[in-house]
Amino acid sequence: MSFPLPFGKAVIAPSVLSADFSDLKSSLAPINDGAGWIHFDVMDGAFVPNISFGPLLIPAVKKCSPLCIDAHLMINKPADYAEPFAKAGADLITVHAEAESPIKAIDKIHSLGILAGVSVKPCTPAEKIIPFLDKADLILVMTVEPGFGGQKFMAGMLPKISEIRRMIDKTGRKIWLQADGGINEHTAIDAAAAGADSLVMGSALFKNSNPAALIEKIRQDLNNLQ
Ligand code: DX5
Ligand code: ZN
Repeated sequence: MSFPLPFGKAVIAPSVLSADFSDLKSSLAPINDGAGWIHFDVMDGAFVPNISFGPLLIPAVKKCSPLCIDAHLMINKPADYAEPFAKAGADLITVHAEAESPIKAIDKIHSLGILAGVSVKPCTPAEKIIPFLDKADLILVMTVEPGFGGQKFMAGMLPKISEIRRMIDKTGRKIWLQADGGINEHTAIDAAAAGADSLVMGSALFKNSNPAALIEKIRQDLNNLQ
């Protein structure tokens, strides 16, 4: 399955960081039908004050889901790790604009034949993504401080999402605009109304007793938004 292109409807990208690692198959099964793809949060303990997991986990996730994987690298040296994540099966790799040599990292990711995204932290202004508009396939707006799941959505990021939506639309290129952090059934609608078309959901989804029903409800609410 190849990574989907933006097609005007917002999709949900469950963050595997909040999945049940003691039973990944059962944890991912309910989301496989309704989600757009899976979000894979990589943390190096240096760029962010937390360590999560590396490329080794990607084949395990792929055994539990047919969905594509977007690897969100919250790491200092993304160019050094593009290849292992691509080889492990990532379909899109997102690097931080605040990390080392992000343009070099994106070129490296593209040279490996997969899609590339760029992410900006809450304190990074929208204009910082201008150098990436001609090459990024996805722009990730952090709506929490990177490093942990389960944080509160930063509504102050909504104007930044709208500003980047306008910047993307001006390019005429197909670029996903992803909101990441604190997304639940309410903030998903706020983020989509502001212009996001990919909504990363971790704790609000995997802590819910019926993730499949929650995804279905949000998809209906998103359709009503259009
Ligand atoms: C935070 C990660 C997010 C996070 C989302 O650094 O980039 O993807 O896991 O989890 P929730 O939805 O719980 O905020
Ligand atoms: Zn993320």
